[in-house]
Amino acid sequence: MRRRFRHRLARVLCLAAGLGLSFAAQAWGPQGHALIADIAAAHLQPAVRAEVSSLLAAEGHHRLDEIASWPDAIRHDRPRTGRWHYVDIPLDAAGYKASRDCPHDHCVVARIPYFAHILGDRSASQRQRIEALKFLVHFVGDVQQPMHAEDHDDKGGNDVRLSYFGHRTNLHRIWDSGIVDHALDLHVRSDYSIDYGPTRAAAIRLDRQITPREREQWTRGINSRHLNAAAIRWANQAHRLARRVAYGDLPAPPRRHWSETYQQQAWPVVRRQLERGGVRLAAVLNTTLGR
Ligand code: ADE
Ligand code: ZN
Ligand code: ZN
Repeated sequence: MRRRFRHRLARVLCLAAGLGLSFAAQAWGPQGHALIADIAAAHLQPAVRAEVSSLLAAEGHHRLDEIASWPDAIRHDRPRTGRWHYVDIPLDAAGYKASRDCPHDHCVVARIPYFAHILGDRSASQRQRIEALKFLVHFVGDVQQPMHAEDHDDKGGNDVRLSYFGHRTNLHRIWDSGIVDHALDLHVRSDYSIDYGPTRAAAIRLDRQITPREREQWTRGINSRHLNAAAIRWANQAHRLARRVAYGDLPAPPRRHWSETYQQQAWPVVRRQLERGGVRLAAVLNTTLGR
């Protein structure tokens, strides 16, 4: 992560914290996005890897994980992009409905095919394609986060205040980062930077657990002409996990001594969503940029 971007992200977060705002609609924390980018990077076709590297290099970056949280850093300056990070499918609804959940394409489901199209368009400017790559890497991650695919009149869980392992936080944030942090011990520094070494090592460990059968199932039907349908399937899958696990396994208040039990229920789900994110991101980049 480049310094300027890191400081900007830190400034936005400090500002939000200082104002006592829950930083609504944060994505996976920087660790989650970096893990997804690292898993994906290991599965790019050689020609795709080369093209991605050349786009990254134009901005002085070397690896996909360095740009994976960029859309969070610019949200403050570009407020219209805020709604692109999630899709508010009502928790009790059967599934995604574009007219209800994605007006004017301002949701994560619509932004995935949109940015994939720009990335794959070699007549678009390099600047546009680099930006599309940064949004795409981030949003293919976000749509796997169960709390980014639902709303329960609580801003995707941001209004559900609770205490997790002694930290005052909310339901949305524990799914963004609390559960990952607790399981993998990957901490974010106060300037919001992360240590790439341990994160990359953790990504290799997650990647090794993915079976060939899972890889095949998770990427079935992904091709550049049908990315909208794929994004809808991913959002519906995440929405079901929100209902069944994130809310379904949440004890009613007052919640005492619940963190360890919840962590054991949630971590396998979070881990699988990170793995799916990585595998699916690789497939999206391969189909978008492959020849
Ligand atoms: N704000 C409103 N709904 C949200 C969601 N599902 N995720 C993040 N931020 C939100
Ligand atoms: Zn979030
Ligand atoms: Zn996000």
